[in-house]
Amino acid sequence: MGASPLAQVLRRLPVQKSASLMVGFGTADDAAVYEIHGDKAVVATLDFFPPVVDDPFTFGQIAASNALSDIYAMGGTPAFALNIVCFPDTLGLGVLERILKGGLSKLKEAGVVLAGGHSIVDNEVKYGLSVTGFVDRDKVIRNSTARPGDVLILTKPIGTGIVTTALKRGILSTTAASEAIKSMKALNKAASLSMTGVKVNACTDITGYGLIGHAMEMAKGSGVNIVIRAGDVPVFKAAMRLVGNKAARPGGLERNRASFGKDVRVSGVSGPMELFGYDPQTSGGLLISAPKASCARLVKRLVAQGAGCAIIGRVESRTRGRQLKLE
Ligand code: CO
Ligand code: CO
Ligand code: CO
Repeated sequence: MGASPLAQVLRRLPVQKSASLMVGFGTADDAAVYEIHGDKAVVATLDFFPPVVDDPFTFGQIAASNALSDIYAMGGTPAFALNIVCFPDTLGLGVLERILKGGLSKLKEAGVVLAGGHSIVDNEVKYGLSVTGFVDRDKVIRNSTARPGDVLILTKPIGTGIVTTALKRGILSTTAASEAIKSMKALNKAASLSMTGVKVNACTDITGYGLIGHAMEMAKGSGVNIVIRAGDVPVFKAAMRLVGNKAARPGGLERNRASFGKDVRVSGVSGPMELFGYDPQTSGGLLISAPKASCARLVKRLVAQGAGCAIIGRVESRTRGRQLKLE
């Protein structure tokens, strides 16, 4: 759903208080964090969606990587997962088998055990997982604790919304989309591990609300301003070619612009680069907010772990006016 309509409904739910709940939905963070005992906490999340690619196995891989990502964004270690399946009774079971095998291959890569799941008959295929992990109490990385002076690092290029929409509408071949597909399949595990032992103030993963939406949630939760340098944001080549084509524009892009655009100041940025900021991502990278002093070390670790790494902006003190600047 779009961020604005969802917020409208969530506002109407009574706020529950629990001494054990360390992170709930108040700050739009990636996963819930619940203290169990001593210095340990449970991290829990769930994510599911319709196919973004034709190949069932690849779709399963992407859905699993995407679901695991919220645990990684919190600095947690995923432990076990439950499948969520919506599947039409008119479709061959071989398709479902390949989706689940794709998901399982990513769970194995992540060292996560599949513990069960739930399935229903539905007209449209949907697949995802609920993932549970653990994190040390004092090592939780929130999205709401960025500090003025921080540097912003992004670990994957953006543009998967445009690429998958073009794929679905037959404007783009699977071969031409391969760079983006490879990225969506890639776990954020290496990027997450790179944050251990380095001072990092905040982190979130870039998914449905796009780079701007998730950066905005970071800015609002942290009470800071965020500046993104559009020219430094990596974009998939196929998305770059297609951004001018209205038929390749996902519906979520306009929903994101409607939800977040009013708080964005754009200065000297081309129309297409602005559009990329609102493009909804599937299994996007981590957006890490780190103090300047630990930036060089973090970059070194990201590179050594084989994760992507682009320095795309900075965090400033909150001033009046629009909270995010695209320059
Ligand atoms: Co997330
Ligand atoms: Co999520
Ligand atoms: Co987080």
